[in-house]
Amino acid sequence: MDIKVIVGDIAQIEADAIVVNLFEGVEQPGGATAAVDKALDGAISSLISRGEIKGKFGEVNIVHTFGKLPARIVAIAGLGKRQDFNADKIRRVAGEFCRALRKLNCHKIATILHGAGMGGIELESSAEAIAEGALLGLYSFTKYKKSEYEDIEEMVIVIREEEKVSILERAVGKSKLVAEATNLARDMGNEPANYMTPSQMAEAAKEIASKYNLEFKVFDREDMEAMGMGALLGVAKGSNQPPKLITLSYKGDERSEKAIGLLGKGITFDSGGISIKPSEGMGDMKDDMAGAAAVMTALGAIAQLKLKINVTAIIPATENLPSGTALKPGDVLKASNGKTIEVISTDAEGRLILADALSYAQKLGLSPLIDLATLTGACRVALGTLYSGLFGNDQDLVDKVLRTAARTGERMWQMPMPEEYKEQNKSEIANVKNTGNRYGGAITAALFLSEFVDNTTWVHIDIAGTAFSNKESGYIIKGATGVGVRTLVELALSEAKSQEAI
Ligand code: BES
Ligand code: MN
Ligand code: ZN
Repeated sequence: MDIKVIVGDIAQIEADAIVVNLFEGVEQPGGATAAVDKALDGAISSLISRGEIKGKFGEVNIVHTFGKLPARIVAIAGLGKRQDFNADKIRRVAGEFCRALRKLNCHKIATILHGAGMGGIELESSAEAIAEGALLGLYSFTKYKKSEYEDIEEMVIVIREEEKVSILERAVGKSKLVAEATNLARDMGNEPANYMTPSQMAEAAKEIASKYNLEFKVFDREDMEAMGMGALLGVAKGSNQPPKLITLSYKGDERSEKAIGLLGKGITFDSGGISIKPSEGMGDMKDDMAGAAAVMTALGAIAQLKLKINVTAIIPATENLPSGTALKPGDVLKASNGKTIEVISTDAEGRLILADALSYAQKLGLSPLIDLATLTGACRVALGTLYSGLFGNDQDLVDKVLRTAARTGERMWQMPMPEEYKEQNKSEIANVKNTGNRYGGAITAALFLSEFVDNTTWVHIDIAGTAFSNKESGYIIKGATGVGVRTLVELALSEAKSQEAI
């Protein structure tokens, strides 16, 4: 979909649909909604007074114009209560009205800048949120089945201020790039595991690398053996698909040696291994590489933005399957930092592959480290499907990620890492074991990872609850959500800005 910013009067735009809005509880609409209402001889205000249009958050009411306006349809987007309003609500509303209008066979739509007037949101933030919400909300995975609907080909954002056009176009451009990166991560997560194998992950990374001029490396089983990556190789043992350790590097600041490390769990299918999972819902475990997809596609976006920073993504990729050669409960593995690990459950495989990836990231001198992983069902139990769990060994870095995430609408919640729980990861026969007891599972998993982080600042984001959605809402679509991409790009943006300031 093309998104344009133009100066004009929304009521006069030729399009299939024009979109105005209403806050909940407002009886007499103002601004652009009032102008459109007038052109419709008061149809909107009369529907409000009859209680048909309420402005409830996320509701999209349709009024047909029957020739009173150039547009065929007027959509009134409900913004909810004004005191609860924020930029993420604009994203969600944009997702909702775009899908509603696509169902009504609209190919060209026009919208005002929601929330910019009474909502108190800056014009730029509103444009950014509309573009992002629209592009994310209209996503569908169409590789194996045609979409039910025709695409909306064009959305125009109609503004009043001539002098704002170029700045808003830039905002829309950035959103487009970030949304496309997110949608690419969604495609990868939705791709069935028979296609999205570790080798295919490497291909996808290679494609991103050649498109955006990144350095690409892939290490095979023999390379990993030479590097002593016994934990990653242990997980890979059960599968016929060869494991891959993939790195992508973006160098935007040649003068600096420093580089941020982004790590992503890349289990292309998690059956649990010998500690096999129940079959119900097991298919969703094709998205157990959501962290890997997020860091890869974020790197592509960072490169397109030409940010003056260095970033390297590290992706350990393998399947986790049971077989005659598979890892077994009770086995002991040796990670590349020399630590031995007793495997209690082969289903706690994410922390095993990340142990070697974290060690490798430190060998490369990357700092800070940020890992994204669909790591524990316990995190989903603790925080539900809206919040990712955030862990870290440095409060400043944690705060920075939280602040950044809040701007993108990707909700995160800091979780504690109490020393006392480390007890749970103690093994009788090895340096650590890979599961704790029944309680605090997301925390003991994070504490396990911390065993493989020595002298660098590090944040771990558990996206087990947020990476896959079973329902459609706002700009979230059923299936892989692409969570993390937007926060990683935003982090890189703010990092590049703070570098400039020095
Ligand atoms: N990939 C799963 C975690 C997961 C669960 C992601 C649900 C998304 C939705 C992970 O590898 C796993 O199986 N974790 C185990 C750990 C346990 C064996 C300690 C879990 O959460 O059950
Ligand atoms: Mn598992
Ligand atoms: Zn897993």
